[in-house]
Amino acid sequence: MKVFIGSDHAGYALKEALRDHLQQQGYEVEDIGVFSPEPADYPDVAHRLTACVIAEPGSRGILLCGTGIGMCIAANKRRGIRAAHAEEPLSAQLARTHNDANVLCLGGRILGIELAKAIVDTFLQTPFSAEERHARRVQKLELP
Ligand code: RB5
Repeated sequence: MKVFIGSDHAGYALKEALRDHLQQQGYEVEDIGVFSPEPADYPDVAHRLTACVIAEPGSRGILLCGTGIGMCIAANKRRGIRAAHAEEPLSAQLARTHNDANVLCLGGRILGIELAKAIVDTFLQTPFSAEERHARRVQKLELP
């Protein structure tokens, strides 16, 4: 599975650690920046990453800012993106099972590395539910 990962300055350190973690696990990871802890605007990164996810069907995205919230708001502006903010693994699991989330948003100023790894691993390993009601609801997420 191709995984795009990106952050602003506040998520930079955790993004670097998660990228290495995912590469060690054998994921094909593309780091779309930022590439230094210099201040950066999170919407710019979110818009860049979500364009990559839409262009590569089946891929997933991971976005990090200070809280994960700004990234999540920005990511969900793009049609076809279902971005979920998570601070523990169960939310990441349910975001996949019920919502077919294709982007995960994390807070670099909130999470420690071991918890962040557990959230990301859960997000990437959990399939979407096979139940019709979830597919029906996910289809209704897009505005006409
Ligand atoms: C940057 O200071 C911070 O506002 C940003 O990383 C993010 O947390 C916004 O939601």
